[in-house]
Amino acid sequence: MALSFARDIRPLFRDSPDVDSMKDYGLDLSSYADVKANAENIYSRLLDESMPCDGPWPKDRIALFRRWIDEGLAL
Ligand code: HEM
Repeated sequence: MALSFARDIRPLFRDSPDVDSMKDYGLDLSSYADVKANAENIYSRLLDESMPCDGPWPKDRIALFRRWIDEGLAL
């Protein structure tokens, strides 16, 4: 079964500080439409470890996000 935003990706973003901080920058990480539209930008920031601002994700979690993109960004 392909990875899904609702089941597999949304839970990776903490309500605080991830979702609430990033809303101040115009990106709603709790929104499927926003994350889908900005997926490559989000992936670059995860990969270069500049986001989240309080410490990088483990490599396997970044790879999961990449796989979600490559599988077609399913809801
Ligand atoms: C998994 C969690 C997060 C993701 C995926 C994420 C993603 C991003 C992305 C894609 C940008 C660039 C926006 C653009 O290009 O316009 C950005 C900017 C920013 N984020 Fe986050 N963010 C996360 C968590 C956080 C947290 C926890 C903080 C701090 C409390 C934070 C603070 C900022 C700030 C200050 C900027 C603007 C300055 C900069 O570009 O470095 N973010 N974030």
